[in-house]
Amino acid sequence: MVGLTRLTKRPISALITKTDGKNIHFIAGKLATNFGKLIQHNKDLLVVNKQLIDKTSDPKFTTFVGEGLYTFKPTLKAFGTTWSQEEYSHPGFQRVYLRLKSFQRFTETWAILERAQADGLFEKHQGAKCTLRIASVGGGPGYELLALRIFFKRNFPNVTLDLTSLDLCKSWEQYVLRLGFKFLPYNINDGNLLGRLGLAKGELEYVIISYIMIYVSNDKCLDMFRDLLIRDGVRALIMSERTEATPACKRMENRGIHCSRLMPQKLGQDERQNLFVADPSLLKSGQKDFNSSFGVLQSDPTFPNVPFCEHKAPRQAGGHRLGWRPFHEEKQVPSEYHARMK
Ligand SMILES: C[S@@+](CC[C@H](N)C(=O)[O-])C[C@H]1O[C@@H](n2cnc3c(N)ncnc32)[C@H](O)[C@@H]1O
Repeated sequence: MVGLTRLTKRPISALITKTDGKNIHFIAGKLATNFGKLIQHNKDLLVVNKQLIDKTSDPKFTTFVGEGLYTFKPTLKAFGTTWSQEEYSHPGFQRVYLRLKSFQRFTETWAILERAQADGLFEKHQGAKCTLRIASVGGGPGYELLALRIFFKRNFPNVTLDLTSLDLCKSWEQYVLRLGFKFLPYNINDGNLLGRLGLAKGELEYVIISYIMIYVSNDKCLDMFRDLLIRDGVRALIMSERTEATPACKRMENRGIHCSRLMPQKLGQDERQNLFVADPSLLKSGQKDFNSSFGVLQSDPTFPNVPFCEHKAPRQAGGHRLGWRPFHEEKQVPSEYHARMK
């Protein structure tokens, strides 16, 4: 716990799994084991990052600016996309991203993989001895692939994985390599993902898409996603997104693609974790008698309440701010920030 709290600086909110008014429940058991692996890897990435920061002329200031970019999101306010390429490449920004997003992306990817498994997507890999090529597009530092590698090792030990992260931001490469994956610079808007990977039709099994649609929600990109599924033999796209309304779901359905909304829909639309397949029969949710309002049921999720859902019932009861998290209240611009940015 102490290690985690040092690493996240957001100890309580990041590690709470449940509150019931009187008690606070923290992570334990298999959650802690998974986090242990993540923390080990993240330590390595933070060492790489520290070397980069130390090479700058004023490492303290670099760290300080990075925290400001992460917290106040100037590009989101000005242009509507979370961070710019310049910001993603900033070592001080990367430090915060590594410390905080590591937990979020790792747990969310784990959760979506568990839901995908519950939906039957991975049944064909049970006991199979094969190699799966999987790409994460806009993969950032690589936490989605890290979660996937550990998940597959645990559940499908005979499967060999060939994992590549692709991103427009080249400076993620050093982290991705450190985690043991391949990296390719790639602009999704250029299309031709298979060609970029040097693969032929049928050679790429899954594509992970995590928190990138804000950048590439255009027809050309969605057409490429459709073509990957219908023409190029990709079995499924595995998509995590930030908002409960993710327009890509409907837009892919309009392109003849089956979308499995993995989150429960009973307390309102929730399109934060989705699978896209050309052939609905690959999934339990693609069967005719499936009750879609329940989402895909997991019997025993490793990370309960991921992505967070505690706002849903209060919202039904009359008005709970969707984005509210305990630590948001702390988000005040320190006066020192303005002073130093002058
Ligand atoms: C919010 S981050 C998500 C990173 C990672 N998938 C995660 O979930 O932590 C968005 C990523 O998309 C990348 N990106 C933005 N536009 C892109 C494009 N046109 N092609 C490829 N990657 C892009 C950014 O460089 C950044 O790494």
